Amino acid sequence: MTTDLYCVMGHPVAHSRSPWIHARFAELTGQQLHYDKREIPLDHFDRSVHDFVREGGLGCNITVPFKFEAAKLATQTSARGLLAQACNVLSFKDGQILADNTDGIGLVDDIERNAGLSLKGLHLLLIGAGGAAAGVLGPLLQAGPAHISVANRTLHKATELVARHLPLAAQQSTTLEAHTLHGFDASFDVIINATATSLSGAAVPVAARALKPGALAYDMMYGPGAQGFMDWAQAHGALPRDGLGMLVEQAAEAFLIWRGVRPPSNQVLAELRQVIQG
Ligand code: ATR
Repeated sequence: MTTDLYCVMGHPVAHSRSPWIHARFAELTGQQLHYDKREIPLDHFDRSVHDFVREGGLGCNITVPFKFEAAKLATQTSARGLLAQACNVLSFKDGQILADNTDGIGLVDDIERNAGLSLKGLHLLLIGAGGAAAGVLGPLLQAGPAHISVANRTLHKATELVARHLPLAAQQSTTLEAHTLHGFDASFDVIINATATSLSGAAVPVAARALKPGALAYDMMYGPGAQGFMDWAQAHGALPRDGLGMLVEQAAEAFLIWRGVRPPSNQVLAELRQVIQG
Protein backbone atom coordinates (compact mmCIF):
# COMPACT_ATOMS: atom_id res chain seq x y z
CA MET A 1 0.00 0.00 0.00
CA THR A 2 1.41 3.44 -0.89
CA THR A 3 1.40 6.22 1.73
CA ASP A 4 -0.52 9.39 0.95
CA LEU A 5 2.05 12.09 0.30
CA TYR A 6 1.96 15.81 1.27
CA CYS A 7 4.60 18.50 1.76
CA VAL A 8 5.29 22.16 2.38
CA MET A 9 7.14 24.06 -0.34
CA GLY A 10 8.98 27.28 0.39
CA HIS A 11 12.29 29.12 0.31
CA PRO A 12 13.58 28.98 2.98
CA VAL A 13 11.70 26.09 4.56
CA ALA A 14 14.28 24.49 6.87
CA HIS A 15 12.65 25.78 10.06
CA SER A 16 9.08 24.98 9.07
CA ARG A 17 6.99 23.41 11.84
CA SER A 18 4.41 22.14 9.34
CA PRO A 19 5.75 18.54 9.11
CA TRP A 20 5.57 18.25 12.90
CA ILE A 21 2.06 19.74 13.01
CA HIS A 22 0.66 17.50 10.24
CA ALA A 23 2.33 14.37 11.67
CA ARG A 24 0.63 15.13 14.99
CA PHE A 25 -2.73 15.80 13.28
CA ALA A 26 -2.40 12.43 11.49
CA GLU A 27 -1.62 10.58 14.73
CA LEU A 28 -4.51 12.17 16.59
CA THR A 29 -7.04 11.47 13.83
CA GLY A 30 -5.72 8.00 12.92
CA GLN A 31 -4.81 9.00 9.36
CA GLN A 32 -1.98 7.36 7.42
CA LEU A 33 0.09 9.95 5.56
CA HIS A 34 3.59 11.27 5.03
CA TYR A 35 4.31 15.02 5.07
CA ASP A 36 7.77 16.47 4.39
CA LYS A 37 9.34 19.84 3.56
CA ARG A 38 10.86 20.84 0.26
CA GLU A 39 13.15 23.81 -0.30
CA ILE A 40 12.33 24.98 -3.81
CA PRO A 41 14.76 27.02 -5.94
CA LEU A 42 13.25 30.47 -6.51
CA ASP A 43 12.74 29.98 -10.26
CA HIS A 44 11.51 26.35 -10.08
CA PHE A 45 8.15 26.61 -8.38
CA ASP A 46 5.87 25.40 -11.19
CA ARG A 47 8.21 22.57 -12.14
CA SER A 48 8.52 21.46 -8.49
CA VAL A 49 4.75 21.27 -8.11
CA HIS A 50 4.37 19.23 -11.29
CA ASP A 51 7.22 16.91 -10.18
CA PHE A 52 5.49 16.39 -6.84
CA VAL A 53 2.21 15.54 -8.58
CA ARG A 54 4.06 12.97 -10.74
CA GLU A 55 5.49 11.42 -7.55
CA GLY A 56 1.91 10.89 -6.40
CA GLY A 57 1.65 13.93 -4.08
CA LEU A 58 -1.93 14.67 -3.02
CA GLY A 59 -1.49 18.16 -1.66
CA CYS A 60 0.96 20.75 -0.42
CA ASN A 61 1.20 23.83 1.71
CA ILE A 62 2.85 26.81 0.09
CA THR A 63 4.85 29.32 2.04
CA VAL A 64 6.94 32.42 1.34
CA PRO A 65 7.66 33.46 -1.36
CA PHE A 66 5.48 31.24 -3.58
CA LYS A 67 1.90 32.03 -2.48
CA PHE A 68 1.24 34.36 -5.43
CA GLU A 69 2.68 31.85 -7.92
CA ALA A 70 0.56 29.10 -6.37
CA ALA A 71 -2.58 31.15 -7.02
CA LYS A 72 -1.55 31.63 -10.65
CA LEU A 73 -0.64 27.97 -11.22
CA ALA A 74 -3.98 26.62 -10.02
CA THR A 75 -6.59 25.34 -12.45
CA GLN A 76 -9.33 26.12 -9.90
CA THR A 77 -9.18 28.60 -7.00
CA SER A 78 -11.54 29.05 -4.06
CA ALA A 79 -13.40 32.35 -3.58
CA ARG A 80 -11.17 33.30 -0.64
CA GLY A 81 -8.06 32.43 -2.69
CA LEU A 82 -9.28 34.63 -5.54
CA LEU A 83 -9.89 37.54 -3.17
CA ALA A 84 -6.46 37.14 -1.58
CA GLN A 85 -4.75 36.52 -4.96
CA ALA A 86 -2.41 34.30 -2.92
CA CYS A 87 -2.80 30.66 -1.88
CA ASN A 88 -1.19 28.53 0.81
CA VAL A 89 -2.91 25.19 0.08
CA LEU A 90 -2.85 23.14 -3.12
CA SER A 91 -4.73 19.87 -3.67
CA PHE A 92 -4.18 17.60 -6.65
CA LYS A 93 -7.14 15.67 -7.97
CA ASP A 94 -8.03 14.19 -11.37
CA GLY A 95 -5.32 16.21 -13.12
CA GLN A 96 -6.53 19.47 -11.56
CA ILE A 97 -4.62 21.80 -9.23
CA LEU A 98 -7.06 23.21 -6.69
CA ALA A 99 -5.90 26.24 -4.68
CA ASP A 100 -7.19 27.72 -1.45
CA ASN A 101 -6.09 30.15 1.23
CA THR A 102 -6.53 29.06 4.86
CA ASP A 103 -4.31 31.75 6.42
CA GLY A 104 -7.18 34.12 7.10
CA ILE A 105 -9.52 31.56 8.60
CA GLY A 106 -6.53 30.35 10.64
CA LEU A 107 -6.05 33.85 12.04
CA VAL A 108 -9.74 34.31 12.80
CA ASP A 109 -9.96 30.86 14.43
CA ASP A 110 -6.95 31.60 16.61
CA ILE A 111 -8.40 34.92 17.78
CA GLU A 112 -11.97 33.71 18.24
CA ARG A 113 -11.53 30.09 19.41
CA ASN A 114 -8.13 30.06 21.09
CA ALA A 115 -7.91 33.61 22.43
CA GLY A 116 -11.69 33.69 23.04
CA LEU A 117 -12.35 37.11 21.48
CA SER A 118 -15.29 37.50 19.09
CA LEU A 119 -14.45 40.01 16.35
CA LYS A 120 -18.11 40.86 15.72
CA GLY A 121 -18.73 44.60 16.11
CA LEU A 122 -15.09 45.43 16.94
CA HIS A 123 -12.74 48.04 15.43
CA LEU A 124 -9.69 46.45 13.78
CA LEU A 125 -6.40 47.81 12.46
CA LEU A 126 -4.60 45.61 9.90
CA ILE A 127 -1.03 46.84 9.42
CA GLY A 128 0.52 45.94 6.06
CA ALA A 129 -0.79 45.40 2.56
CA GLY A 130 1.50 42.67 1.18
CA GLY A 131 0.75 38.99 0.71
CA ALA A 132 0.25 38.28 4.41
CA ALA A 133 -2.34 41.05 4.80
CA ALA A 134 -4.09 40.09 1.55
CA GLY A 135 -4.49 36.54 2.81
CA VAL A 136 -6.40 37.56 5.92
CA LEU A 137 -8.53 40.59 5.05
CA GLY A 138 -11.44 38.61 3.54
CA PRO A 139 -11.89 36.23 6.51
CA LEU A 140 -11.49 39.16 8.94
CA LEU A 141 -14.39 40.91 7.15
CA GLN A 142 -16.43 37.71 7.27
CA ALA A 143 -16.09 37.73 11.06
CA GLY A 144 -18.33 40.84 11.05
CA PRO A 145 -16.29 43.61 12.71
CA ALA A 146 -17.77 47.13 12.72
CA HIS A 147 -14.67 48.64 11.09
CA ILE A 148 -11.31 47.71 9.58
CA SER A 149 -8.55 50.20 8.81
CA VAL A 150 -5.72 48.91 6.62
CA ALA A 151 -2.55 50.93 7.21
CA ASN A 152 0.54 50.54 5.06
CA ARG A 153 3.86 52.34 4.50
CA THR A 154 3.01 52.52 0.79
CA LEU A 155 -0.50 53.95 0.68
CA HIS A 156 -1.46 52.83 -2.83
CA LYS A 157 -1.04 49.15 -1.89
CA ALA A 158 -3.45 49.57 1.01
CA THR A 159 -5.85 51.45 -1.27
CA GLU A 160 -5.80 48.64 -3.85
CA LEU A 161 -6.29 45.94 -1.21
CA VAL A 162 -9.20 47.83 0.30
CA ALA A 163 -10.82 48.52 -3.09
CA ARG A 164 -10.80 44.79 -3.90
CA HIS A 165 -12.58 44.01 -0.62
CA LEU A 166 -15.20 46.79 -0.65
CA PRO A 167 -18.04 44.61 -2.00
CA LEU A 168 -17.48 42.07 0.80
CA ALA A 169 -17.23 44.88 3.36
CA ALA A 170 -20.57 46.28 2.15
CA GLN A 171 -22.20 42.84 2.45
CA GLN A 172 -20.95 42.61 6.02
CA SER A 173 -21.90 46.23 6.86
CA THR A 174 -18.26 46.78 7.87
CA THR A 175 -16.62 50.12 7.13
CA LEU A 176 -13.24 49.62 5.46
CA GLU A 177 -10.58 52.32 4.96
CA ALA A 178 -6.99 52.60 3.73
CA HIS A 179 -4.38 54.76 5.50
CA THR A 180 -0.68 55.41 5.74
CA LEU A 181 1.01 54.17 8.92
CA HIS A 182 0.44 57.55 10.58
CA GLY A 183 -2.66 58.63 8.73
CA PHE A 184 -5.31 57.74 11.31
CA ASP A 185 -6.34 59.16 14.70
CA ALA A 186 -8.53 56.34 15.94
CA SER A 187 -7.64 53.64 18.45
CA PHE A 188 -8.62 50.01 17.96
CA ASP A 189 -9.85 46.92 19.83
CA VAL A 190 -7.56 44.65 17.82
CA ILE A 191 -4.42 45.46 15.87
CA ILE A 192 -2.78 42.88 13.62
CA ASN A 193 0.78 43.23 12.39
CA ALA A 194 0.96 41.69 8.92
CA THR A 195 4.09 43.60 7.86
CA ALA A 196 7.56 42.13 7.48
CA THR A 197 8.84 44.28 10.40
CA SER A 198 9.14 41.42 12.89
CA LEU A 199 10.92 39.31 10.27
CA SER A 200 13.50 42.03 9.64
CA GLY A 201 13.87 43.26 13.22
CA ALA A 202 12.43 46.72 12.35
CA ALA A 203 10.47 48.79 14.88
CA VAL A 204 6.72 48.40 15.40
CA PRO A 205 5.35 50.44 12.50
CA VAL A 206 2.48 52.30 14.24
CA ALA A 207 2.22 54.58 17.29
CA ALA A 208 0.99 53.09 20.57
CA ARG A 209 -2.03 55.42 20.57
CA ALA A 210 -3.53 52.98 18.03
CA LEU A 211 -4.18 50.64 20.97
CA LYS A 212 -7.32 50.95 23.06
CA PRO A 213 -6.65 49.98 26.68
CA GLY A 214 -6.70 46.17 26.85
CA ALA A 215 -6.63 45.82 23.05
CA LEU A 216 -5.50 42.55 21.48
CA ALA A 217 -2.18 43.14 19.70
CA TYR A 218 -1.47 40.28 17.30
CA ASP A 219 1.71 39.64 15.37
CA MET A 220 1.39 37.09 12.56
CA MET A 221 5.01 36.05 13.26
CA TYR A 222 6.04 33.78 16.13
CA GLY A 223 9.30 33.01 17.88
CA PRO A 224 12.09 35.49 18.69
CA GLY A 225 11.17 37.75 15.74
CA ALA A 226 7.77 38.56 17.25
CA GLN A 227 9.16 39.35 20.70
CA GLY A 228 9.75 43.07 20.05
CA PHE A 229 6.11 43.55 19.02
CA MET A 230 4.89 41.48 21.98
CA ASP A 231 6.99 43.55 24.43
CA TRP A 232 5.73 46.80 22.86
CA ALA A 233 2.11 45.65 23.21
CA GLN A 234 2.59 44.61 26.84
CA ALA A 235 4.34 47.89 27.69
CA HIS A 236 1.33 49.82 26.35
CA GLY A 237 -1.38 47.94 28.20
CA ALA A 238 -2.41 45.63 25.34
CA LEU A 239 -2.78 41.86 25.32
CA PRO A 240 0.02 40.46 23.12
CA ARG A 241 -0.42 37.36 20.98
CA ASP A 242 1.97 35.79 18.48
CA GLY A 243 1.12 33.92 15.29
CA LEU A 244 1.79 30.35 16.46
CA GLY A 245 -1.93 29.66 16.83
CA MET A 246 -2.57 31.00 13.33
CA LEU A 247 0.09 28.61 12.01
CA VAL A 248 -1.60 25.62 13.64
CA GLU A 249 -5.14 26.70 12.66
CA GLN A 250 -4.29 27.33 8.99
CA ALA A 251 -2.73 23.85 8.98
CA ALA A 252 -5.88 22.37 10.57
CA GLU A 253 -8.00 23.89 7.79
CA ALA A 254 -5.63 22.48 5.16
CA PHE A 255 -5.84 19.05 6.83
CA LEU A 256 -9.64 19.31 6.73
CA ILE A 257 -9.56 20.10 2.99
CA TRP A 258 -7.26 17.15 2.26
CA ARG A 259 -8.54 14.51 4.68
CA GLY A 260 -12.14 15.56 5.45
CA VAL A 261 -11.43 15.56 9.21
CA ARG A 262 -10.72 18.57 11.43
CA PRO A 263 -7.90 17.69 13.85
CA PRO A 264 -7.84 18.84 17.51
CA SER A 265 -5.88 22.00 16.77
CA ASN A 266 -6.05 23.46 20.29
CA GLN A 267 -4.32 20.37 21.70
CA VAL A 268 -1.63 20.49 19.00
CA LEU A 269 -1.09 24.23 19.62
CA ALA A 270 -0.55 23.60 23.34
CA GLU A 271 1.89 20.78 22.55
CA LEU A 272 3.77 22.87 19.97
CA ARG A 273 4.20 25.74 22.45
CA GLN A 274 5.78 23.28 24.86
CA VAL A 275 8.09 21.88 22.17
CA ILE A 276 9.21 25.40 21.17
CA GLN A 277 9.70 26.60 24.74
CA GLY A 278 11.72 23.43 25.45
P1 ATR B 1 4.43 39.23 2.84
O1 ATR B 1 4.10 38.23 1.79
O2 ATR B 1 5.19 38.65 4.02
O3 ATR B 1 3.27 40.07 3.27
P2 ATR B 1 5.27 41.41 1.19
O4 ATR B 1 4.18 41.10 0.23
O5 ATR B 1 6.63 41.77 0.67
O6 ATR B 1 5.53 40.20 2.18
O7 ATR B 1 4.73 42.58 2.16
C1 ATR B 1 5.54 43.12 3.18
C2 ATR B 1 4.71 44.13 3.98
O8 ATR B 1 5.51 44.61 5.05
C3 ATR B 1 4.29 45.35 3.17
O9 ATR B 1 3.07 45.82 3.69
C4 ATR B 1 5.44 46.32 3.48
O10 ATR B 1 5.11 47.68 3.29
P3 ATR B 1 5.26 48.32 1.78
O11 ATR B 1 4.05 47.86 1.02
O12 ATR B 1 5.27 49.78 2.03
O13 ATR B 1 6.55 47.78 1.23
C5 ATR B 1 5.62 46.04 4.94
N1 ATR B 1 6.94 46.44 5.47
C6 ATR B 1 8.13 45.84 5.25
N2 ATR B 1 9.11 46.47 5.95
C7 ATR B 1 8.51 47.50 6.62
C8 ATR B 1 8.98 48.50 7.53
N3 ATR B 1 10.26 48.58 7.89
N4 ATR B 1 8.07 49.36 8.05
C9 ATR B 1 6.77 49.29 7.70
N5 ATR B 1 6.26 48.35 6.85
C10 ATR B 1 7.13 47.46 6.33
